[in-house]
Amino acid sequence: MPHCNADGVLLCNSKIAQMVLTGLPEPDAAGRAHSARLAERIRYEIERAGGRLGFSRYMDLALNAPGLGYYRGPLRRFGREGDFVTAPEMSPLFARCVARQAGQILDQLGGGEVFEAGAGSGRLCADLLGGLDLLGRLPSRYLILEPGAELRARQRETLQRDAPEFLSRVSWIDDLPAAGFVGVMLANELLDSLPVRRFRKGAGEVLEAFVEQRRDGFGWRYEAPEDGELESSVSAIESTLGAPFPQGYTSELGHEREAWVSSAAARLERGALLLVDYGYTLSEYYHPERRDGTLACYYRHRVHHDPFFFPGIQDISVHVEFTGLSRAALLSGLDVAGFTSQAEFLIASGILDACRDLDPQSREFMRLTGQIKRLTLPGEMGELTKVLALTRGIDCPLIGFSGRDLRDRLS
Ligand SMILES: C[S@@+](CC[C@H](N)C(=O)[O-])C[C@H]1O[C@@H](n2cnc3c(N)ncnc32)[C@H](O)[C@@H]1O
Repeated sequence: MPHCNADGVLLCNSKIAQMVLTGLPEPDAAGRAHSARLAERIRYEIERAGGRLGFSRYMDLALNAPGLGYYRGPLRRFGREGDFVTAPEMSPLFARCVARQAGQILDQLGGGEVFEAGAGSGRLCADLLGGLDLLGRLPSRYLILEPGAELRARQRETLQRDAPEFLSRVSWIDDLPAAGFVGVMLANELLDSLPVRRFRKGAGEVLEAFVEQRRDGFGWRYEAPEDGELESSVSAIESTLGAPFPQGYTSELGHEREAWVSSAAARLERGALLLVDYGYTLSEYYHPERRDGTLACYYRHRVHHDPFFFPGIQDISVHVEFTGLSRAALLSGLDVAGFTSQAEFLIASGILDACRDLDPQSREFMRLTGQIKRLTLPGEMGELTKVLALTRGIDCPLIGFSGRDLRDRLS
């Protein structure tokens, strides 16, 4: 039986139960209306597809349906008033460290451009250009690939407000840069938002996760895969691990992410692709104890695991499997020049310098050490978030990777 909330709006039992169980705050009327429009769009696709959609298509629509998906609608997603905080939003020290690494690469190349994919609010762009300017290494152009008009406008606003002197160097592009790119390609928390396929091990066979319509929303349906690729990928992982997955084991496959790396690599003539994201190497990702994959949804700074909770007003993400990315890069002729944790990358890139000359009793010292802790402590973003550097034509060791080298874990 439906319930009414305080504003007299009808909600399904299951949604109320979810919010009570998970402590998720209730969306406002505008959020519910937005989600209902997207749900209608998804229902239409499910019907057209004969009653079910592969999870990757559902995730794509939930995040990217024009005008309706989470990254394409009018919501505030980043920062305190949004759903989650990313490293560049948390502290300008993150961009300062990326600037040191990018500056070293541009120096080696004798100049070049910067390309950022999935620039969010534009915070990293504004602060990175500021950092590169201080190092005397401003790129000739800073290219941004951001699919949605609303976020592009927000990025322009951020630059106009906080870094107007650099705006003329920034251009928005509709696809990856043309082949022949020389410089630094960057993506922070992009790959975790690219759609994945989800699988479950049955009694010997491999099943694919589909999304079906239910009376009160959407739900999972596990059936024979849409094609042979899913099963062969799962078998390949099992042979790498040396054991079959147990019955019921559920996880994700990030082929679209690997394809993205291959496409970016094909455009990179000389320079580096720096990928920052939370995730694991293959053996950690598909660890027997990680029985339900890494799907995580963010809504108003709460994390939960239900991708069907008000689609369009919550973020849906899946951790990144870095071994697959590094293999895709190697096949495209790139070198895996570095792989380490965010904490090690930031420390090697000089994050602690920010406090060196400050009075430990000062407010500024407290403020900056608070930010450094959130970026580097293992219980915060320090260990789970990794940095992968893929290069072509760069001979020198990269400064950000001079601490702990985790590359041997990728194989
Ligand atoms: C989790 S946000 C990260 C934003 C920003 N990099 C940061 O760290 O604050 C993901 C970003 O990737 C963008 N995005 C999603 N799919 C994309 C794609 N296929 N190509 C480029 N950007 C994409 C989203 O619109 C959003 O700006």
